[in-house]
Amino acid sequence: MKDVVRANFDVSVDAYTDYERRTGRFSTLARLLFAEMAARSGSVSDIVLDAGAGTGTSTRVFAAESDRTVALDISREMLREVDASPRVEGDFDHLPFAANSFSGVAFTASLFLVPDPSVAVREAARVLRPGGVVGAVAPIGWVTDEQRSIFADLDRQSRSPTGADEVEAALEGEFDVTTGTWRFATTAEEIRLFHAIPAMAARLYPKLTAEERVEKAVDLLGSLEGTYEQQWRWIVGVAE
Ligand SMILES: C[S@@+](CC[C@H](N)C(=O)[O-])C[C@H]1O[C@@H](n2cnc3c(N)ncnc32)[C@H](O)[C@@H]1O
Repeated sequence: MKDVVRANFDVSVDAYTDYERRTGRFSTLARLLFAEMAARSGSVSDIVLDAGAGTGTSTRVFAAESDRTVALDISREMLREVDASPRVEGDFDHLPFAANSFSGVAFTASLFLVPDPSVAVREAARVLRPGGVVGAVAPIGWVTDEQRSIFADLDRQSRSPTGADEVEAALEGEFDVTTGTWRFATTAEEIRLFHAIPAMAARLYPKLTAEERVEKAVDLLGSLEGTYEQQWRWIVGVAE
């Protein structure tokens, strides 16, 4: 499973960069997440681990807000794009850091990509200093004005390895958590752009090759028009 996720992101750099350039969605998520983390811990900005840093969109946000930020990702090709902070190729199920190393651990749109998030959450608890704070953002999905999933109308399911509820439950096992939902107005074109990212199109067609799945996803979404709502769950926890 991890090899598949790594391979999916290794071929997603260009489409990911294009989506972010046109929507700014991931930097917005990172900014909002960091604000929720800072609201619960005065010292979060000492040293932050950006867990699942990708191309460095979230890293840049955290680096601007903290004294030191470390970017960790399993995908070498995504990580290669990180320009500012120290980069570590690694898996957040086995963090290559000593206990009590970080004041904050942030999973911006990344913790839903492992089959069992409780392993990564235990690792986050281990590397956090006393009083440290963890944050995660996980996708809920896209809905119509009537709050109906766009995929229900397309007769298809969109699945991550792990849903937002499981991410929240894993964090609840180790931390005292607060959660909420962020809602963004989005367009049919942006939804197609999101699914032009091979790693994201894998939610719909996991077994196809990167090119085939993007083609099929964009085709499936071709009938959408107008505006929709994109929903993300945020979860922030402080050590109990
Ligand atoms: C949707 S991207 C988000 C990137 C970045 N946080 C942002 O906001 O733009 C998710 C990232 O998580 C990484 N990832 C997934 N599973 C991982 C794991 N087990 N360990 C480390 N990184 C992982 C992927 O390689 C990918 O770069």
